[in-house]
Amino acid sequence: TGYITYDPGFVNTGSASSAITYIDGDAGVLRYRGYPIEQLAQRSSFLEVSYLLIYGDLPSKEQLSAFVDRIQRHTLLHEDLKRFFDGFPRDAHPMPVLSSAVSALSTFYQDSLNPFDQTSVELSTIRLLAKVPTIAAYAYKKSIGQPFLYPDNSLGLVENYLRMTFGLPAEPYEVDPDIARALDQLFILHADHEQNCSTSTVRMVGSSEANLFASVSAGINALFGPLHGGANAAVLDMLSDIKADGGDVGKFVERVKNKEAGVRLMGFGHRVYKNYDPRAKIIKKTADDILSKLGKNDELLDIAKKLEETALSDDYFIQRNLYPNVDFYTGLIYRALGFPTEYFTVLFALGRLPGWIAHWREMMTDPARKIGRPRQVYTGAPQREYTPLDQR
Ligand code: CMC
Repeated sequence: TGYITYDPGFVNTGSASSAITYIDGDAGVLRYRGYPIEQLAQRSSFLEVSYLLIYGDLPSKEQLSAFVDRIQRHTLLHEDLKRFFDGFPRDAHPMPVLSSAVSALSTFYQDSLNPFDQTSVELSTIRLLAKVPTIAAYAYKKSIGQPFLYPDNSLGLVENYLRMTFGLPAEPYEVDPDIARALDQLFILHADHEQNCSTSTVRMVGSSEANLFASVSAGINALFGPLHGGANAAVLDMLSDIKADGGDVGKFVERVKNKEAGVRLMGFGHRVYKNYDPRAKIIKKTADDILSKLGKNDELLDIAKKLEETALSDDYFIQRNLYPNVDFYTGLIYRALGFPTEYFTVLFALGRLPGWIAHWREMMTDPARKIGRPRQVYTGAPQREYTPLDQR
């Protein structure tokens, strides 16, 4: 079978060549299509960044408004797809609800089944960007037993999403521009991160020539896990546990250092960033701004700050190059905006969506594309003879 490189977790294996996102983990650099994340977070918008990731360059004014217009015309869900939500238990976790509904898009839009038809790939791209926020809002509405709102396409994507999530049919919903801007910025910061677990999953599934909806649905499931997208919720659970236990940060850090089973400092550490996560720097400030604007004196924010300070001056974390990652502060912002903890990972999915789409499209048009098929190192029994049941 030839020589096989054993690389669990693909720590050193380049699975793709890609022109989308550049990361220098030692220097804390993140760029989308060459543009530094700091500039995009401050000056761009989520839909402009989506265009950039998917098509490769910043759009002109005309290109952006055509793109936004097209997305706005696809925000409705098919009435039959809406009924889908009735089948789930009310306390269902919103991530499998989201992935199921995205998977179901293949049944409503069967033109998507040919992954090489450029017109339908374009349409599937627009449909995903337009409909996933609606699906996400309905997953929330379903969980609290409130009626679904139709999209209001006079609003921008994030405003529309906030209204469908927190608005009520009989009442006007005023979107706070600062909150919409903060959420837009969080989506920008999550929009791509090269070959992370969910994006690699999207590529792996797509490499079998599965369509965009099936591949993105698989990516949502990969994001669900607590070591990936689920970390933002896990951070909040951790902070709440520390608070319930009397707020002693030092005691918790000792448990982490003693490697108690299942106790990790959630929101710390990263496979690639070994100095700092540039996204965490931006988010920390947004967390401060939003929490003070909303007048939320969140005790959990104080615990988070103490925890960060304690960990950053502790040898265990210094030696292992463990720093806060993007998820350390996002949960606090989401909580301040009124999202329940188990919903946080859905917000990560909304942000990561353009990245998944961009990678799927890049892979499908790559002349070097091959089906993903890793090898293994076999550690099982050598050949043995079958014994009949009555002799065992
Ligand atoms: N708390 C305590 N110890 C840690 C942590 C942590 N959060 N992260 C790593 N370590 C230790 C680990 O125990 C190991 O120590 P030792 O060498 O003594 O065995 C060393 O640091 C190296 O860790 P690793 O598990 O080999 O590192 P990795 O690159 O495989 O894991 C990670 C990266 C992000 C999965 C991990 O740091 C982690 O579990 N962090 C907590 C979960 C989290 O915040 N995830 C979000 C990541 S960023 C957004 C995203 O990708 O979704």
